[in-house]
Amino acid sequence: MTEKEFLDIRRRFPILERKVAGRDMVYLDNAATSQTPDSVVDEIAYLYRHTKANVHRGVHTVSQEATDLQEEARRKVARYINAPSPEEVIFTRGTTESINLVAYSMGQLFPAGGQIILTVMEHHANIVPWQLMAQRRGLAIRVVDIDDRGVLDQEQYRSLFNEKTVMAAFCHVSNVLGTVNPVKEMTAFAHSRGIPVLVDGAQGTPHLPVDVQDIGCDFYAFSSHKMYGPCGIGVLFGRREWLEKMPPYQGGGEMISHVSFSGTTFAELPFKFEAGTPDFVDIAAFSKAFDFIEEVGIDTIAAREHELLEYTTRRLENEVEGLRIYGTAPHKSGVISFLVGKAHPYDTGLLLDKLGVEVRTGHHCAQPLMERFSIPGTVRASFAVYNSLRDCDAFVDALKRIAPMLQ
Ligand code: ALA
Repeated sequence: MTEKEFLDIRRRFPILERKVAGRDMVYLDNAATSQTPDSVVDEIAYLYRHTKANVHRGVHTVSQEATDLQEEARRKVARYINAPSPEEVIFTRGTTESINLVAYSMGQLFPAGGQIILTVMEHHANIVPWQLMAQRRGLAIRVVDIDDRGVLDQEQYRSLFNEKTVMAAFCHVSNVLGTVNPVKEMTAFAHSRGIPVLVDGAQGTPHLPVDVQDIGCDFYAFSSHKMYGPCGIGVLFGRREWLEKMPPYQGGGEMISHVSFSGTTFAELPFKFEAGTPDFVDIAAFSKAFDFIEEVGIDTIAAREHELLEYTTRRLENEVEGLRIYGTAPHKSGVISFLVGKAHPYDTGLLLDKLGVEVRTGHHCAQPLMERFSIPGTVRASFAVYNSLRDCDAFVDALKRIAPMLQ
């Protein structure tokens, strides 16, 4: 990417011009939420001004226009992740809701005594929905460990499958460690045992090319707000054969075929899983975020983030006293989790904020992983395509400045 191309990208995100603590803001909390380009914000404002109506519920013009925008967005998502059909793309409120949907609805199909395989690096959103279902249905959870670099123990993963296994669920990319898991191979192994797979792709789609047919998974869940889109929208890709078997997750308008007090029949896919009025404005705006990603190119995004990761990791390791990085897998995405000296991550995060640097601190909704490393949490810097080497320098320089206070 040339400097001019980079500046053209960065200019589309006006928030990056703002100040924090009287300094130029350095936004490095992209794994939590990335920023949103003007095209997405403008679409939201335009639709609220000109095209707000309920989708799939009216013959009138505005409702038809809204419906067309939503369904065009669904086709775009399907193309982007190479889903076999748009009917296998369900809009939700986020990755969390997508996983809850699968855990709840698939859970109804599991026999009591069944076992679910998860990993120790999962976000709470890929743990708690399964625990809730396990309690309801008398299921058990088995957990795959990692090594000290944050690489999953594949031998243990394979050894956990037995005649009781009903499901395997794991993240594509760890939100704390940045580890990119070999999801295609892990899915193939589960399928060789006849077990369906859910991949939590919240940290996958924003940073890597994702092809659900190539991965082969049965479910793939992700969120708009981490991929330059609006908050409150997520996607669940599900293979038709499962979605057709699964009972609905929520009941209400639009997910039905016919309702009577003697019984209700349900709508075809994907509507069976989309009860209630959807946030069609944000779904349509999400479509603009895909346009942005496609225009820049996901390979270009991945390459840039990799460059920022390598550069910053090198500087941190060489220049910041007492710094320890958690997550050193050979295949890693643009996330750096670390601690400095004896300082609690909140203190480091607060001091960085005073110098204009926005990072996430705490357990990152991954408490079992924190326990695995016997730490209370980490400080996490995470990159997006609009971050510059200057951002990385400002971050490292700020950390060097505060490091003596943290030992
Ligand atoms: N899952 C998000 C994160 O890792 C919120 O920060």
